[in-house]
Amino acid sequence: MDSKMIEVKGVTKYFREKKVLEGVNFSVNSGETFLIIGRSGAGKTVLLKNIIGLLAPDEGQILIDGVDITKLDKYELEQVRLQFGLVFQGSALFDFLTIEENVGFYFYQHTKLSRADIRQKVKATLALVGLEKIEDLYPYQLSGGMRKRVAIARAIIYNPKIIIYDEPTTGIDPIAVDKVVSLIEDLHKHFSITSLVVTHDLEVGLKLAERLAFLLGGKIIFEGDQQELEETKDARVKQFIKGSSAGPIKEMEV
Ligand SMILES: Nc1ncnc2c1ncn2[C@@H]1O[C@H](COP(=O)(O)OP(=O)(O)O)[C@@H](O)[C@H]1O
Ligand SMILES: [Mg+2]
Repeated sequence: MDSKMIEVKGVTKYFREKKVLEGVNFSVNSGETFLIIGRSGAGKTVLLKNIIGLLAPDEGQILIDGVDITKLDKYELEQVRLQFGLVFQGSALFDFLTIEENVGFYFYQHTKLSRADIRQKVKATLALVGLEKIEDLYPYQLSGGMRKRVAIARAIIYNPKIIIYDEPTTGIDPIAVDKVVSLIEDLHKHFSITSLVVTHDLEVGLKLAERLAFLLGGKIIFEGDQQELEETKDARVKQFIKGSSAGPIKEMEV
C-alpha cells in the first residue's frame, strides 16, 4: 500500500453563503504527481490554499504526512508550510528584487547563511531549471517562461517534501509551455518529490500526472488514473475531456 502524503477528507469551504467546496475527498501518494483538474472558477486555488493552510476549511480534515493541519496553531502551521514548495499562477516574483534575491528569498529570510553561500545555492538551483547568468537581473528583464522557471527554482531550493503548481503553464507561449512541462517531469524524475499540479488545461495535466481528480460544482466527480479516465461513463467527465460545449455541463457551471 502506498503511503499517503496528502489526504483531503470531507472538506467544505464557504465564502459567506456561497459553498465553493463540498465534501472534497482525495489523496496523493508519496512521490507521485497528482492532478486537480477543473474549469476556471471551480475552486481549485481555494482547495490548494486549504491544503497549504492559508485558508481553513469549514468542515473536514487535511492530513499532510499524517498530520491534521486543521488542528494546528499558527506557529505549527508555519512549520508545516515549510514542507511545501509553491509555484503560483503568474509566478509571483518580487519585481523589486533581483533573481538571486527572489530565488534565495527563503535563505535570506530564515537563515544566517552568508550572501556568498546563498548565491552559490541560487546558481546551482537555477542550473537545475536550465537558467544561467541571470542572478543579477530583475524579473521584468525575463520572458514569461523564464520567470516561471525562476519561480520553480525558488520553490525547490529548500528541498520541500511537496511541490504545488497552480496553473504552471497559464499565460506563457507554447514553446515555453513545453519547456516548463519537461522541467516539471525532469524534477519529478530526479527528486521523486510529491507533486500536486492544478490546472484547467487537461492536455498539460495529463502529460504530467498519472492520477487525477476532477472538480466540478465544488465536488470531486472523478478520481482515478488515466486508464480509468478513458473508460469513465460519467457524461460530465467525458464532455470535459472532449472540450465540447454540448453535454450536461452548463456554460455557467463550474
Ligand atoms: N477570498 C475569497 N472570497 C470570496 N470568494 C472567493 C475568494 N477566493 C475565491 N473565491 C471564489 O471561489 C470560487 C473559486 O475560485 P478559485 O479557487 O480561484 O477558482 P479556480 O482556481 O478553480 O479558477 C470563485 O467563485 C471565486 O470567486
Ligand atoms: Mg486558480
